Amino acid sequence: MPLSRRSTLTQFLIEERRRFPSASGDFNALILDVALACKAIARAVAFGELGGMLGNHGAAGTDASVNVQGETQKKLDVISNEMFISANNWGGHLAGMASEEMDGPYQIPRSSPRGKYLLVFDPLDGSSNIDVNVSVGSVFSILRAPQDVIDSGRDVTAADFLQPGTQQLAAGYALYGPTTMLVLTVGNGVNGFTLDPNLGEFKLTHHQIQVPADTQEFAINASNSRFWEAPVKRYVDECLAGRTGPREQDFNMRWIASMVAEAHRILMRGGVFLYPRDTKDAAKPGRLRLLYEANPIAMLMEQAGGRASTGREPMLGVQPTGLHQRIGLVFGSKHEVERIERYHREPVAMKDNTPLFAERSLFRD
Ligand code: AHG
Ligand code: MN
Ligand code: MN
Repeated sequence: MPLSRRSTLTQFLIEERRRFPSASGDFNALILDVALACKAIARAVAFGELGGMLGNHGAAGTDASVNVQGETQKKLDVISNEMFISANNWGGHLAGMASEEMDGPYQIPRSSPRGKYLLVFDPLDGSSNIDVNVSVGSVFSILRAPQDVIDSGRDVTAADFLQPGTQQLAAGYALYGPTTMLVLTVGNGVNGFTLDPNLGEFKLTHHQIQVPADTQEFAINASNSRFWEAPVKRYVDECLAGRTGPREQDFNMRWIASMVAEAHRILMRGGVFLYPRDTKDAAKPGRLRLLYEANPIAMLMEQAGGRASTGREPMLGVQPTGLHQRIGLVFGSKHEVERIERYHREPVAMKDNTPLFAERSLFRD
């Protein structure tokens, strides 16, 4: 097969770097190490049962192991976490890492140099789908370490990672679907790369992705409807009412239960995704995690002309308080996210003015 003239991820990063002549190259090397981890995970995922990759983590005959979130760990959750660590713990670019699958921060071993960046990741998102052969992904965020960490080379603490999403230097995901893709922002738009299985290289295939501002497609786990807050119920009711409701148009619904796959669909053709704050569990203000799920997806959406929010405020402005903090997340086509934010601002007016909500709610308690 002839070598195509599409640029590889490496070429793309080199060209981006030419805009910053003083850059050391550390940042690019870090992104390439992350991409290597994603390629390794893509192979593990692709072997599935043939590689003994399916099922729960933990010794046979014992209960499955549980992570700090109280969630059952799949074998591939643990393997993917190890792949992220081994690709990134030796290069000298990182001051530390944090992951969904580790209780506290990961310290770079003293045998390797320590660098100036922090890497935060969900090594395998949507892993409940792995045993049924539905798309899963990895999602990551890169922050700058606090200056005293860089100067002293000290161990990192959870507090060092608690930076608002506006501070992210780069964010991205890998999607392990029919093709493996890496979708990346380094703060200059969003570009998508498809893994060429012949070369093992990511090639630029989706240049400067833009999320359409309008959509007629939404994604939400409707089994939680009885726990939703009023503005979310109103929004979904209005979508379901379709052409005969206040929106005067029909909507389509999707739910993959893989946020990365959902984000990718929305980047490709628009849509809105909601995993809102709800009343299901008072200890969990939302399902998804701020630092390694909501923030990287929010940066990608905003860089692609979309929007991401808690429902109440822009996601990227939220000051984190915990490494594994959960948060309500709404992202996608700008006008729909803005509408949902507006509904959160006017809950009282909503009840008075919307007969649909008051009288005919399709998801009434
Ligand atoms: P993870 O597999 O990393 O724990 O994340 C799963 C997330 C996300 O991908 C998805 O949107 C959501 O959980 C699915 O939630 P439901 O189980 O409520 O469908
Ligand atoms: Mn996840
Ligand atoms: Mn995960």
